[in-house]
Amino acid sequence: MTIQEFKADFQEKCDPQFSKDEIHSFWQWFNENLISISNPTDLENNYNKWCLELISGKPIQYIFGYSFFHKYCFQVTSDTLIPRPETEELCELILNQNQNTPLFGIDIGTGSGCIPITLLNERSNWKFRALDLSVNALKVAETNTKKYQLSNRLELINQNFLENQNVTNNYDIIVSNPPYIDPKERDNLESRVTHFEPHMALFVTHDVLEFYIALFAFFERNTNPNAQLWMETHQDYCNDVIELFNTKFRAKKIEDLSKNPRFVYVVK
Ligand SMILES: C[S@@+](CC[C@H](N)C(=O)[O-])C[C@H]1O[C@@H](n2cnc3c(N)ncnc32)[C@H](O)[C@@H]1O
Repeated sequence: MTIQEFKADFQEKCDPQFSKDEIHSFWQWFNENLISISNPTDLENNYNKWCLELISGKPIQYIFGYSFFHKYCFQVTSDTLIPRPETEELCELILNQNQNTPLFGIDIGTGSGCIPITLLNERSNWKFRALDLSVNALKVAETNTKKYQLSNRLELINQNFLENQNVTNNYDIIVSNPPYIDPKERDNLESRVTHFEPHMALFVTHDVLEFYIALFAFFERNTNPNAQLWMETHQDYCNDVIELFNTKFRAKKIEDLSKNPRFVYVVK
């Protein structure tokens, strides 16, 4: 098949299931990946495999193994969440507030490592630790760390943050986009999320505030004066997180670009 024939076949296969915009965007991914294959048999085999995966509902980022985030491209696998545009906004908020004065930070629940890697790429004087419970997610974070040559400024740690907070230090900044979805909401989520994204990254185990309660204790004990804490939250529980942190600190609610209450910023 020629590339034009692939394109026509692709449109026909996708037509009932996806919108015009989606088909256009997915084809860009296919095109980009098809043109790097030189053997015609491999080309056709890969094309057919990718089409089947796409039609089955698999997110395009998992089919090709990468995702764009902020200005960068990260490896993603079924062990890591696909980084979301809201999290790009969180990084922008942090960068806008902090120029290149040296900061030592930690990212709790790092997944692909998209948050600290983006921040470190933009701020050459910063150092970070990044923690995750998933060993497989950390392997992906390690690949991304090496890709951007940040191994000397980013330390990856395998730890259950809810059980053991033994990464004490005097941090200047803590960032977290923790799991915050109640498993009861599962049926309201899109099936491509619940079928393909890691449940460890999405769902809380006991309580929707469990990570924020742990973050409160960690922030109180392990940070310098004037330290910052930046968190992404579920829009329905953002006010509860604000209330929790206002018992001791100054917490501010920040909306995302869709005007949903999404981020909480706390100063010590
Ligand atoms: C919502 S995802 C965020 C991933 C990434 N930071 C992002 O924004 O795309 C939450 C991450 O927390 C990790 N996680 C879940 N439970 C954890 C725990 N108890 N301790 C440490 N990390 C945990 C998951 O493996 C997942 O990578």
